[in-house]
Amino acid sequence: MSVLINENNKTYTLYTNSSMYQIKVDDKGLLLHTYYGKRLDYSDMSYALYKGVPGFSPISSDFNIYDPWDDTYSVCNIAQEISTFGNGDFRNSALNVRFADGTLGFEPRFVSASVEKGKYKIPGLPAFYGDDADTLIITLKDKVYDVYIHLYYGVFEEYDLITRSVRIENKTSLPIYIEKALSMTLDFQYGKYDLISFHGKHAEERMFERNHIMHGTNSVSSTRGASGHMQNPFVIICDENAGEYSGNAWGIALVYSGSFEINASKNQMNDVRITAGINHENFNFEVLPNDVFCTPEVAMVYSDSGFDKMSGCYHKAIRNNLCRGKYKLARRPVLINNWEGTYFNFNGDKLVSMAKDAKELGVELFVMDDGWFGKRDDDRCSLGDWYPNEKKLGCTLAELAKRINDAGLKFGIWFEPECISEDSDLYRAHPDYAFRMPGRNPSRCRSQLVLDMSRKEVRDNIYDQISKILREVNVSYVKWDFNSHICNVYSADLPASRQGEVYHRYMLGLYELLERITTDFPDVLFESCSGGGGRFDCGMLYYMPQVWTSDDTDPVERLKIQYGTSFAYPVSTMGAHVSASPNHQSARVTPLKTRGAVAYFGTYGLELDVTKMTLEEKEEIKRQIAEFKRHYDLIQNGEYHRLISPFSNDSNYCVWEVSSSDGKEAIVCSVRNKSEANYANEIVKLKGLIPDKYYRINGGDKKYLGGALMQLGMPIKFDFIPYPANIYHLTVCE
Ligand code: DGJ
Repeated sequence: MSVLINENNKTYTLYTNSSMYQIKVDDKGLLLHTYYGKRLDYSDMSYALYKGVPGFSPISSDFNIYDPWDDTYSVCNIAQEISTFGNGDFRNSALNVRFADGTLGFEPRFVSASVEKGKYKIPGLPAFYGDDADTLIITLKDKVYDVYIHLYYGVFEEYDLITRSVRIENKTSLPIYIEKALSMTLDFQYGKYDLISFHGKHAEERMFERNHIMHGTNSVSSTRGASGHMQNPFVIICDENAGEYSGNAWGIALVYSGSFEINASKNQMNDVRITAGINHENFNFEVLPNDVFCTPEVAMVYSDSGFDKMSGCYHKAIRNNLCRGKYKLARRPVLINNWEGTYFNFNGDKLVSMAKDAKELGVELFVMDDGWFGKRDDDRCSLGDWYPNEKKLGCTLAELAKRINDAGLKFGIWFEPECISEDSDLYRAHPDYAFRMPGRNPSRCRSQLVLDMSRKEVRDNIYDQISKILREVNVSYVKWDFNSHICNVYSADLPASRQGEVYHRYMLGLYELLERITTDFPDVLFESCSGGGGRFDCGMLYYMPQVWTSDDTDPVERLKIQYGTSFAYPVSTMGAHVSASPNHQSARVTPLKTRGAVAYFGTYGLELDVTKMTLEEKEEIKRQIAEFKRHYDLIQNGEYHRLISPFSNDSNYCVWEVSSSDGKEAIVCSVRNKSEANYANEIVKLKGLIPDKYYRINGGDKKYLGGALMQLGMPIKFDFIPYPANIYHLTVCE
């Protein structure tokens, strides 16, 4: 059992293979956080908690004014397990609960603790799962009102993963109002840490950024109703000198796809506090008597030896215990998507001719992207009208799917179910289905509005339209796109006082719809997309095992995007396609081999007009598909290592590697991503090999000692062309 309860000193200690997390109830019933870090033999870690009270810190209400002061004790300066507003802790709060009398002063005190075998579930929300995990539940109650907080902890020993979620239960006879419902507080008593976050924009997602945690609050967030391209709901807190293979690192990943906030703050005594959860901007949730509010889950991984180990834990946990369905571990079909090949300009014959040519190269699935429905020939109309444009296709959808199947490929299709065009039959019939504020002209993203997914009738309408197609047509794959962020937030279903619930109710509605569709169509492979990687998060991965990583398909730009993404998310989740050169987003000209090499470390697919390729290019794609399939198991199931960062100014190269878990095989991808003159070849130190075994590289005669390849390194040589790439396959000599 990974949870140790010590009733004598009231400590609750969670153990994973390498980490230890400890909570303690003090003699006043407050729940304190004593330690989260490297696994140690059991010890009560509370000895360091009471560091003195800084001036202007309130002494806890548990002390009477006439008591002799215990001047070491203030909630403002003691590490808390869950922070609330209004009780004297002026650091960032996680939970702000306003009672019916208007006060905002929750004072949580310990009630009980229990342990269960298996991982808890969260009603209506995505979460990691696993029968082998353990659950600790700690219940707290406000000192005055019958309002309870249940803290849930899931412990996955093997992955050094601890998950958290909070339930707020109203047992009073009046409503309460939750003004902030974050999923965690994590207090560190030492203050010198860095915060690594992954910012970006459309077509440039998850750019690595590292800063010291400064005094005040460093915040990573989204108020867009989606996790967004601009900040990913994943951060790393680490020692200032931590790196890929050394130092303490804590990953914080939200299992949520809506507006979020992750805050890292440092106070006047240099204590660091992390809080994370639903963004509290425009959030206000009424909880009626006997009702419960559940926060999303946060998934924390601790590594005692840098980011590489932390990423490995996330990769395995996400693949095995977050993704679900038939395709979670299965090889995904190599697909061709027509978007960059044709955009809106296609008909059925064109698609079939692309499918036929793609089949010759080894492609297995044809995906028809945007533009097949309603009267859509550009992005200004028809979202919401999910019936085929038979005039454009030249046949029914079922017939088109059959023609593609007859060409030897499976058939996949694009939807954007959450959005609506004002020029659509659905909008004309139900204008209230879209988010709009009464009396105001709405703001529009990409000429469209967002459907109010908090409403059941809206979800039912979309479900009926999509499921009709999935039942009537032989569809093997769905790309679920979302090309707006949510503004004009107002739901026609809720009273004025409850409009602060809409953003979160949208997410609950979306998750319900996704659960329904993915359950009803278990054989369909679903790929999530939001203008590329605008909703690449653990929430969406619970429903769909892969995400279109970015609309930027330039392989040189993709190095940064995929490298940044890899800190939390495994290769199997990253949609990656070979597209045309010059690239449509950057105009960069790159070798076809480089485009393929980068796409291998994702799902590998094509996104170009294959009918326009030369014979030589087709031969190269054939070779790539065969090579990708040959190394598929290694790449998808192996251990991913970042060797040279594309964000570094010290190198002209980006190199990553995947080694098999037994160390007998590895594959290395290197790309020269800058074109400076007079630059030496790189030697790169490999990882994950067996030190005393010899390896061949790409089947060559020469043998290299594993230890030498890891300590001295492997020389990387490049052709003298722009942006060359090399793939090195290492196999152990038995
Ligand atoms: C945004 C996606 O990221 C693209 O791949 C494509 O599907 C377009 N939407 C279609 O409108």
